[in-house]
Amino acid sequence: MRVFVIAAVVVALIVLVGIAWLAASGPTEAEAERIAVVLRETAPAGEPAAYAHCASCHLHDGSGRPDGAIPRLNGQRRSVLQHKLYRLRAGTLRIPVMDPFARALDPAEVEEIADYLAQLPETSSSKPHLSEEEQVAGAALYGEHCASCHGANGEGHDGLFASRLCGQYRGYLERRLEEAAAQVRGDADAVMQGVVAQVPEEALDPIVRWLAHGNGCAAP
Ligand code: HEC
Ligand code: HEC
Repeated sequence: MRVFVIAAVVVALIVLVGIAWLAASGPTEAEAERIAVVLRETAPAGEPAAYAHCASCHLHDGSGRPDGAIPRLNGQRRSVLQHKLYRLRAGTLRIPVMDPFARALDPAEVEEIADYLAQLPETSSSKPHLSEEEQVAGAALYGEHCASCHGANGEGHDGLFASRLCGQYRGYLERRLEEAAAQVRGDADAVMQGVVAQVPEEALDPIVRWLAHGNGCAAP
């Protein structure tokens, strides 16, 4: 009996590890091509053909993953999307899981995708609940440390290529701030590295929660 229980537990563990590995590693190029064919067939009207590959991870509505592993791109500023995609294409910004797809885009496709994502409506899933006091405190800390570049309400800034942050997933914001602090992306995050070093650590969580809550979002 015990042997069966142990065997069952081992099998369950192997399956779980397998699923976790598949979820973390993303598809191979051949798998991605097959997925893209399906995604092209289910694409909503107006979606650029070049976005089919992207939709396999970022989804048709640009909502990514609420746990923040994949950022929300719908409603992101056009200038920020262009800036990121041109740098990904040139290899000055590296995101290994995405590099083959971003490198394959030509400039016209970059423009089409940026236009398309920027006008998609923001989806509103998985926003943290905030008390009145938390909202006031988060807004004040954000105003003090971040608003000069990311805009009064987190709407972003075209001239600085500062991302629209309001309504972005909490997990993504946290991870990107940790990466900036640890200098994971080197020069690509140079501006944010200088900022994160100046902000008291205990201020970051209230700011991130206020941004993810998205109440401050004004029209871009
Ligand atoms: C295999 C899955 C996958 C595919 C396909 C994919 N992406 Fe991504 N994308 C990701 C992940 C994961 C991240 C977050 C990376 C990070 O935070 O380090 C991301 C991040 C981004 C970002 C934000 C970059 C930043 O500075 O953090 C943009 C813009 C983007 N993707 C656009 C695209 C476009 C356009 C395509 C299609 C040409 C595409 N992606 C295809 C997984 C994918
Ligand atoms: C001096 C200007 C400046 C200030 C101040 C600043 N940022 Fe940024 N931030 C930027 C720029 C520019 C980028 C885009 C970097 C890039 O393209 O990779 C950015 C990127 C980010 C990103 C990654 C977004 C993405 O799309 O990948 C996060 C998260 C972020 N900032 C959060 C914050 C928070 C929170 C604060 C306040 C504590 C803050 N920033 C203050 C300029 C600034």
